[in-house]
Parts: sequence; C-alpha cells; structure tokens
Amino acid sequence: PTEQVLAGKTVTITAGPTREALDPVRFITNHSSGKMGFSLAEAAKALGASVNLIAGPVSLNTPTGITRIDVESAEQMQQAALEYAVQSDIFIGCAAVADYRAATVAEQKIKKQGDEITLTLVKNPDIIATVAALKQSRPYTVGFAAETQNVAEYAQGKLVNKGLDMICANDVSDSTGGFNSDNNTLTLYWKKDRLELPHSSKKELALTVMQAIAEKIK
Ligand code: C5P
Repeated sequence: PTEQVLAGKTVTITAGPTREALDPVRFITNHSSGKMGFSLAEAAKALGASVNLIAGPVSLNTPTGITRIDVESAEQMQQAALEYAVQSDIFIGCAAVADYRAATVAEQKIKKQGDEITLTLVKNPDIIATVAALKQSRPYTVGFAAETQNVAEYAQGKLVNKGLDMICANDVSDSTGGFNSDNNTLTLYWKKDRLELPHSSKKELALTVMQAIAEKIK
C-alpha cells in the first residue's frame, strides 16, 4: 500500500481550461484536457489527503472520494480557488486559465457584420498569484509552467514573480507530452533546488509530484 504521506492534509487543485463567454452562444477557450490536474487529485487522495478539485469544462470522470467544484470562467475559478485555498495546506494551480476575457459579454448573439470585427479583451486575474499573496491561511503554493523555449529561465521567473513555493515545468515544444497527451516530462523547481523527472505517464508523474510536495512541507 502507498504510504499515507498526506494524511490529515487538505489539497486544492485547479484543472482544465477556462471558458470566457463572448455572447450567449460563443466563447474563448484553449486545448487543456485537465488530465494532469485530475491525475494530481487522484494521487493526492491515494496519499491520504482530503482533495478539492476546481475544474473548468473538461470531459473527465471525477476520481472517487474527492470534492469536485465545476466552474467555467477565470473569475468563477478565482472565487472558488480563494474560498478553498484558505482551508488548504497545499494549493496547486494546474489550470490553463485564459489570460484575457471579453471586456463586455454581449447579452444577445453578436450579429454577422462587415469583413472585420474587433473584440476588446481585458486581462483575467492571476489566480495562483492571488493565492500565493495571501497574508493569512496561505497554503504551500505550487504552479505549472508550459514553455516552448528557455524552460528553466521562464519557469524560475514565474516561481519568483508569482510568489510560488514550487513550479512544475514542461517543455510543450516536445510533441511527446503536454496538452491532451497522457504522458509528460516535468522538471520541478524550488528557489534553491531542482529535480528533473523522467518522461512518464501523467498518473506516475502526479504521484511523484505529490510525494515531492509532501517531503517539502514535512
Ligand atoms: O503565466 P502562466 O499562465 O504561464 O502561469 C502558469 C501558472 O499560473 C499555472 O500554475 C496556472 O494555473 C497559473 N495561472 C493562474 N491564473 C492565471 C494564469 C495562470 O492561476 N490567470
């Protein structure tokens, strides 16, 4: 049996994409499958944690024994994340949050117009940076970074700029992992430490990531 290294701990994880409405029938989103976040939730549960999984629109089954909170937009995800983060020992931002949303959501379906139309987008809140900046009840905060170049440099930059305790970076220019794949290659970064994990399934990686976190918060 797996050693229950997260017994008594509460873990909150964001997963999947967000969906930003343009009008009642259209939205902006991305290709995140949610697989990595759902695998982390399953791994945390297997290690004895109590798990909250805040999920954007994905087509994945809920792992047994975890609490799933379904959201659509980044703003909804932010609200749920803050509510659960302050009750958690560990917060993991695995969601691919849309960077921008429509400045105004049209109440009626936008009509076909001329040959060009302009959409005005405004920046979404950075959910994980908000959690990491909590002054009270701040959980151990872990981010993800998908990069196509200078992986180490950009990941370490995000670790510092977002105020995280740890970041898991993957090279998405490598076609053997990343979005939608069942496999991935991750390197874990802390301010003064790093750990390169061998290419493997998201399920195996999730267990290793959760065990590494358990070791750090011990
Ligand atoms: O800046 P970038 O989107 O590359 O950062 C990725 C990390 O930040 C992930 O952990 C992601 O879940 C989190 N994030 C967030 N809110 C945003 C954008 C990213 O929590 N608006």
